[in-house]
Amino acid sequence: MKQPNSTRKPGSHLIRGRFAAPTSTDMQTFSSSLAVDLRMLDEDIDGSIAHATMLGQVGIVTAEEAQTLCAGLETVRQEIHDGTWAPTDAHEDVHMAVEERLTEVVGEVGKKIHTARSRNDQVATDVRLWLKRRLIELDVALTELVSVLLDRIESDGRTLMPGYTHLQRGQPILLGHHLLAHLWALERDRDRLVEALARVEKSPLGACAMAGTPHPIDRSISAELLGFRGLVENAMDAVAARDHEQEVVAACAICMTHLSRIAEELVLWSSVEFNFVRLGDDYATGSSIMPQKRNPDAAELVRGKSARVYGDLMTLLSLVKALPMAYNRDLQEDREPLFDAVDTTMASINITAGMWRTLTISRDRFEADLVGDFSLATELADLLAERGVPFREAHEVVASIVRWCEEQGSGLEALTPSVAREFHPSFPEDLGPWLDPRTAAERRTSRGGTAWLEIQRQVAILEGNVGRGFDL
Ligand code: ARG
Repeated sequence: MKQPNSTRKPGSHLIRGRFAAPTSTDMQTFSSSLAVDLRMLDEDIDGSIAHATMLGQVGIVTAEEAQTLCAGLETVRQEIHDGTWAPTDAHEDVHMAVEERLTEVVGEVGKKIHTARSRNDQVATDVRLWLKRRLIELDVALTELVSVLLDRIESDGRTLMPGYTHLQRGQPILLGHHLLAHLWALERDRDRLVEALARVEKSPLGACAMAGTPHPIDRSISAELLGFRGLVENAMDAVAARDHEQEVVAACAICMTHLSRIAEELVLWSSVEFNFVRLGDDYATGSSIMPQKRNPDAAELVRGKSARVYGDLMTLLSLVKALPMAYNRDLQEDREPLFDAVDTTMASINITAGMWRTLTISRDRFEADLVGDFSLATELADLLAERGVPFREAHEVVASIVRWCEEQGSGLEALTPSVAREFHPSFPEDLGPWLDPRTAAERRTSRGGTAWLEIQRQVAILEGNVGRGFDL
């Protein structure tokens, strides 16, 4: 019998039997994903334990062998966590490292673990398990952010502020109404993550390289042990598909857009020009030269990091788009953008919650300057329309009033009832209630309007949803 190849060395020898020489050092470094995928150590061990258990149950290995493999895998997990054994750069990935160490720990039987399995289905399984765990954590973080904003509505929601379109003052609204606009978007982000889980939770394990196996495996056993809900039906699809990753990162990218809009407002609102919020000391930053600065770096970073997550999504889409079926090594490049997108989104959600938990609102910032402000123009037009004037005509009347006020160099406060009635006889004797911004906000009681009652109705719905999480 021929002797095993003498060029074998730790880290790569398990799969180098057909070569006369080891891979070059630069190829080893180029090829290794260990630094990135060691993060999935627990998922890799969990997947291997489920696989070994299944092998034992269907009789591909004996019950005793399965037990040895599982115990050995737990030892490897412990050793790597404790640092008593560490993989090196020479290990191509976490799967090879674990398998090699397992065989050192349990001996010959370790060589049976890879029966009816390939790294292709192994890595697909690991990533899905990892994603499932992170999706749940993202949901918890988002739920906390929703709660922080709901608390803010309770404490400051009746604060009067201008509602903007085109960043021009539009109509007076309550802060609670504004925050609800963000809250509903975040609520949809939660939905998207929950819905993505349905596609993530399918087991690819047992697909092997891409063709299945002649061994009498039962894929549903390992799937159930790992908490998957069902199997990826086709073995090629199981090892080649990455759309569930793209979907999660797309959900992260959309969530980052929402966080970035919130962040942008905090940057604006904390400026002296707006002077509407003051960030808490724990989230404001200083300048190395200007001693007075209270910079909103946290918000700017959330805004900036949204760009990274968009980049991650683009990487994942381009990575897969021209790959022939089934597994291709290109797919190893999926983890960096995937991990980065999830980490960045998680951190940004938490920082946004932190900023909103600790900032202070200037409750009276806009009270005075909204009185007689042109943002009551719509209210005057609505008043005429309520009195039977066709809205388009009312719009024109109020537009002339605004022009007249500007000529006087004043706001709407110059509009006495008698002047108003010269513009249109349908104006009432007392304009007081219609020139009051809070009344204007409170009169908008239509469904979804800015009235406090409507805000409370929506808050109640969202509060009911806070307890609604993944159906685990
Ligand atoms: N490190 C590889 C990855 O992350 C594992 C699968 C390798 N499969 C292979 N046929 N080379 O994608």
